[in-house]
Amino acid sequence: MAVLPIRITGDPVLHRPARTVTRFDDELRTLVADMTETMKAAPGVGLAAPQVGVDLRVFVFDWTDDDGVRSRGAAINPTLWITPVPVGEPDDEAESEGCLSIPGERFPLRRASEARLEAVDLDGTPFELRASGWLARIFQHEFDHLDGVLYADRLDFEHGKLARKAVKKNGWGVPELDWMPGLDHLEGY
Ligand code: NI
Repeated sequence: MAVLPIRITGDPVLHRPARTVTRFDDELRTLVADMTETMKAAPGVGLAAPQVGVDLRVFVFDWTDDDGVRSRGAAINPTLWITPVPVGEPDDEAESEGCLSIPGERFPLRRASEARLEAVDLDGTPFELRASGWLARIFQHEFDHLDGVLYADRLDFEHGKLARKAVKKNGWGVPELDWMPGLDHLEGY
């Protein structure tokens, strides 16, 4: 297993839809193992393949809720069903989200509170997971990555402006920038 560099916003692979996985082979197993290792090293609670420069519809997640229940795995070719996103202002404390491809920044965003993930595993076997709260948020965030959407693209006007400012200040928003978990000391989620 290997820790992979994480692409930073501005790299084209993060801003276009990823391709459906068609080959369930050793290469895919290695990708998922490396993504899991990279997510752990970052550290993060979710990571999508485009973030390591691979345009395939794959994400990994690892989340332990307040009751100590751990949910982890890999979702390949996922479909996501969500409840309506609540209207109104996002809460700065409770709804602030981050992304390993916009490292060190956090902005509040409203998300659906419930989600149902349908995907296949490394053997191509379908599975379904129901999520609420932060896990539902993780699924929405990672699923978006597979369509070339970053959470910063979904922010309201005011926070979107702040996010663009932060991207500019950091010198991001251009192709081929990345950072290495464990070497570069940046924070993700
Ligand atoms: Ni992200």
